[in-house]
Amino acid sequence: MSIHCTLAGIGRYAPDKILSNSDLEKLVDTTDEWIVTRTGIRERRIADEGMTTADMAAKASAMAIENAGFTPEDITHILLATLTPDSAVPPGATSLALRLGIKHIAAMDVNAACSGFLYCLDLARAITHMDSDAKVLVTASDTLSHRTNWDDRTTCILFGDASGSAVVTADQGPGKGGRVLDIMLSSDPAWGPMLTVHGGYSGHPYKKGQPIDDEYFIQMQGREVYKHAVRSMTAISLELLARNGYTPDDVDVLVPHQANVRIIEAVGKKIGVPREQVFVNADRYGNTSAASAPLAMSEAYDTGFIKPGHLVLMTTFGGGFTWGSALVRF
Ligand SMILES: CC(C)(COP(=O)(O)OP(=O)(O)OC[C@H]1O[C@@H](n2cnc3c(N)ncnc32)[C@H](O)[C@@H]1OP(=O)(O)O)[C@@H](O)C(=O)NCCC(=O)NCCS
Repeated sequence: MSIHCTLAGIGRYAPDKILSNSDLEKLVDTTDEWIVTRTGIRERRIADEGMTTADMAAKASAMAIENAGFTPEDITHILLATLTPDSAVPPGATSLALRLGIKHIAAMDVNAACSGFLYCLDLARAITHMDSDAKVLVTASDTLSHRTNWDDRTTCILFGDASGSAVVTADQGPGKGGRVLDIMLSSDPAWGPMLTVHGGYSGHPYKKGQPIDDEYFIQMQGREVYKHAVRSMTAISLELLARNGYTPDDVDVLVPHQANVRIIEAVGKKIGVPREQVFVNADRYGNTSAASAPLAMSEAYDTGFIKPGHLVLMTTFGGGFTWGSALVRF
């Protein structure tokens, strides 16, 4: 039997600065028409100079904590899903804790690339099962603009900066926030080289005085990533539905990782969820990495796309490859 937990509050943040497709036309050899046709993305948000992953995370977290009716002092654990922490040490989660004015609690980073939010949510499910008083702050935040090669037209059109957050408590029963019914996670290291950021890590260490090369930025075999993203998110979503006794007809809203509108539409079609029940905001934010799923969930909820009582299927895919799905009853 699956262990449930509750999303007591959710929140999000995206920087004000907009980078449109026409702005990108001035940076690289591309067109608005090419970007929209291949990806559905029209604009993305970019963090201002000096704005960090933890700065954005703090804003999304504050919204989630307030929506849960808690104060930062109530939080017992911080899990930060990110591949772009402010620094390796101190960890991003303690940088977030500093901004929230929280201390003396467990705080750690989790890197599962774009799947990080669901990975953290599953950990929060375990923590709240062990400690029924736990109030786990699960925040996903990435400033991929810092790891984007702005000379590479095959990648720089895709990504944006944002944060999404949820406060997770032990199961409060039906009708209290979002009730997480089940989560499935997976990975396949064979495909790691398809999507990488190597530079500055032990496989490609920084050496003082050496120039920063392309390895420091996102490198991707887009076609392969596309195929696997569609296959993996579809397969794990169908498996998750089946093991909980649901069919695609039971799903009210699909909230997929907002990588690319074509990927989103293909996943919805293959799972069997009608297009009008699939939430999309990739057109306005691009791919915001780990933040993508909670940013979409929070926006879908606040705009009434997700309504109380809805069965929501979330699914994510990222470098590694890593992927996952979650079922939430709102
Ligand atoms: C990246 C992506 C949009 C590229 O679309 P695609 O249809 O696969 O396009 P290709 O890479 O095959 O490139 C087709 C052509 O467009 C060109 N091209 C690539 N980027 C371009 C751009 N921004 N503007 C104009 N032309 C571009 C290529 O150079 C290629 O030209 P060629 O045929 O002369 O060699 C698509 O593969 C994708 O979305 N992949 C998944 C990426 C993703 O979501 N990653 C994150 C997952 S977490």
